[in-house]
Amino acid sequence: MRAMDDNQQSIAKQHNRDAWNRMVAGKKRFTQPAKDDDLHQPLHTVDAIGWLGGDIAGKKVLCLAAGGGRQSAIYAATGADVTVVDISPAMLELDREVAAERALDIRVIETSMDDLSMFTNEEFDIVIHPVSTCYLPSIAKVFSEVARVTMPGGLYISQHKQPTSLQTGMKRSQNGYELMEPYYRTGPLPPVQGTRLREEGTMEFVHRWEEIIGGICRSGFVIEDLVEPFHADPEAPRDSFSDRCCYVAPYVRIKARRNAMKIEAMPANKIFLPE
Ligand SMILES: C[S@@+](CC[C@H](N)C(=O)[O-])C[C@H]1O[C@@H](n2cnc3c(N)ncnc32)[C@H](O)[C@@H]1O
Repeated sequence: MRAMDDNQQSIAKQHNRDAWNRMVAGKKRFTQPAKDDDLHQPLHTVDAIGWLGGDIAGKKVLCLAAGGGRQSAIYAATGADVTVVDISPAMLELDREVAAERALDIRVIETSMDDLSMFTNEEFDIVIHPVSTCYLPSIAKVFSEVARVTMPGGLYISQHKQPTSLQTGMKRSQNGYELMEPYYRTGPLPPVQGTRLREEGTMEFVHRWEEIIGGICRSGFVIEDLVEPFHADPEAPRDSFSDRCCYVAPYVRIKARRNAMKIEAMPANKIFLPE
């Protein structure tokens, strides 16, 4: 069973590495480096909500699964000491280019988000993790690795696709948007085309709340806040992104703080699932 899980994990990594490399070649969404406007007030651009608590100059920031030349450049422009990690060499090349163009000091590392073995324990003050857990079948190791490299009292800010959104169909029926996929599904989601909610050509997986929120807590974080970025527009055309968002929130953003202690617990799926 363990070997099968490892195999699925490595198939997903290889598949998504190639898919994101192709997305860079096709200049798709999320592959656009930071623009002048983003860098004008960089802290406001990335933290209008104020979770970072003001000035982060000199802080050691890990931008996790965050290649593409946007996140790394904006955080570096705040004066933070930035490391960016991604599985896609093409995405990381955009970080190198933006760093050279804008004379920013950015450390660039190619690895999967569930293998941070090149970093020492408690190396970072802040870990920023944009939407990407959907690209791995198993995410427990991601959170335990993030916990290991975050210093006690440090912040872990992550964004995820909500499970309900990944379960829900893209077209509105007379009953609204319908659940198409079971909550307890395993294996990659069926491919989709022409939607902002999924990235074409990638392999994506649904994660239950006990895997996301429970996984973060069990790894040694306390959740301090949680928001659902708002994209709903009742005036939007039927079946559009903003129409669907009136029914289902697509994302969740979580602010977690590193405990001094890791909570040892049973694996989540042993707690609630029937044998
Ligand atoms: C939605 S993008 C996030 C970065 C984006 N540029 C942004 O500004 O938000 C998702 C990123 O996750 C990366 N990714 C996918 N699977 C990964 C994995 N197993 N480990 C690390 N990065 C991964 C992709 O290469 C891609 O750069």
